Amino acid sequence: MERSSTITITGAGGQIGYALLFRIAAGDMLGPDRPVRLRLLEIPQGVRAAEGAALELQDCAFPLLESVDVTVSAEDAFDGAEIGMLVGARPRGPGMERADLLAANAGIFGPQGAAIAKGAASGFRAVVVGNPANTNALIAANAAEGMPEGRFTALTRLDHNRAVGQLAEALEIGAGAIADVIIWGNHSATQFPDIAHAQLADGRTVFDALADRMGGPIAALAWLDDVFIPRVAGRGAEIIEVRGSSSVASAANAAIEHVRDEQRGSRRGWTSAAVVSRGEYGVPEGLVCSFPVISRGDGEGYRVVEGLDFDPRGRALFEASVAELVAERDAVRALGVL
Ligand code: NAD
Ligand code: LMR
Repeated sequence: MERSSTITITGAGGQIGYALLFRIAAGDMLGPDRPVRLRLLEIPQGVRAAEGAALELQDCAFPLLESVDVTVSAEDAFDGAEIGMLVGARPRGPGMERADLLAANAGIFGPQGAAIAKGAASGFRAVVVGNPANTNALIAANAAEGMPEGRFTALTRLDHNRAVGQLAEALEIGAGAIADVIIWGNHSATQFPDIAHAQLADGRTVFDALADRMGGPIAALAWLDDVFIPRVAGRGAEIIEVRGSSSVASAANAAIEHVRDEQRGSRRGWTSAAVVSRGEYGVPEGLVCSFPVISRGDGEGYRVVEGLDFDPRGRALFEASVAELVAERDAVRALGVL
C-alpha cells in the first residue's frame, strides 16, 4: 500500500459530489494502492446531504477509505489537504447566463483560496469544477497568498472528452483510438475544440479520416464548423436542456480523469486542462486558460504543450475565447475581488 492522500471535495452534498465520492473511495482516481481520506465541505443547507453520503460511504466498506469528515468550515476542510476538488458553486439553470454566476461565485472561491493558503499541504493541487470554472480558479489562485498559482487548475477535460466522443461517433470507431484533440480557451460556449493535430491509432490524422468518410476535405471542414464545434461547445447547454440540470456523471468522470492524470501521469498524447497561463500562445499571464497539457506524474502537475500551429481561423476562435476570459477577469476585478 502507498501512503494515504487527503482529498477535500467542496459541494460534496450536491449532484457531482455524489457522483465523485464513491468512485474516489473505490480507487478510480488515485489507484488501487492509495488509501484516501475524504473531507466533505458544504454549506449548512447541503450538510445533511453530505452526511448522508458519508453514511453510504461507510456502508460500502471500501478497503481504501480511511476516513470521511463532513464540515462547514473551509479552514477545517483544507487543513492538511493534498488535493482539492472545488465543485461547490451555484449551478446554472435553464436560461441563466454564465455572467450571472460571476458575482454569486466570487464570494465562494476567495475565502476557499485563503483557507487553502492557510492550511493545505505544501504539495496541494486543486481542480475547480464549479462554474464559471476558469475564473473561479483565477479567484482562488489569487486569494491563496504564498501558494504558487500554478497549483490551481480548472476542468476542461469534460469538453475534451465530449470532443473525442463526437469524433468517435462520426468515424464509427472507439474513443480510445483518438488522440491529441485540444480544447483551447474557456469552459464555455466560446471554447475552441481543435482537431488540427488529432490522430488515430492507425497513424492517420483525424482530419484525413473525416475527409475519407465525408467525401472530401471541403465536406469535412463544413462538418467541423457547422456540427462538431457548436455541438461540443454547446454540449453543456444541451445537457441542461435535455436533463433539466447540468451534467453530473460525465462531469464527475472528467474531474476524476483530470486529477488522476495530473497526479499519476497522463496517458497517450496530451489532454486538455485549464491552467494558469505563463504567456503560452500569447495568452495574458495569469489567466486560467485551457491548453493541450501533459503530466509526467512527478508532482509538477500539468505542463502546457508548446509550439503547435494554428491556421488563421483557429487562431481567431482561440482569441475570441481568450477575450471572454479577459472580460470575466475584468468583471471580477470590477467587483473588487482580484
Ligand atoms: P449542485 O447544486 O447539485 O451541488 C452544488 C453543491 O455545492 C450544493 O450541495 C451546495 O450546497 C454546495 N455549495 C454551494 N456553495 C458552497 C460553498 N461555499 N462551499 C461548499 N459547498 C457549497 O450542483 P452540481 O450539479 O454538483 O454542480 C456543481 C458545479 O459544477 C456547478 O457550478 C456546475 O455549473 C458545475 N459544472 C461544471 C462542469 C465543468 O465541466 N467544469 C460540468 C458540470 C457542472
Ligand atoms: C457543462 O459543461 O456541462 C456545465 O459546465 C454546464 C453548466 O453551465 O453547468
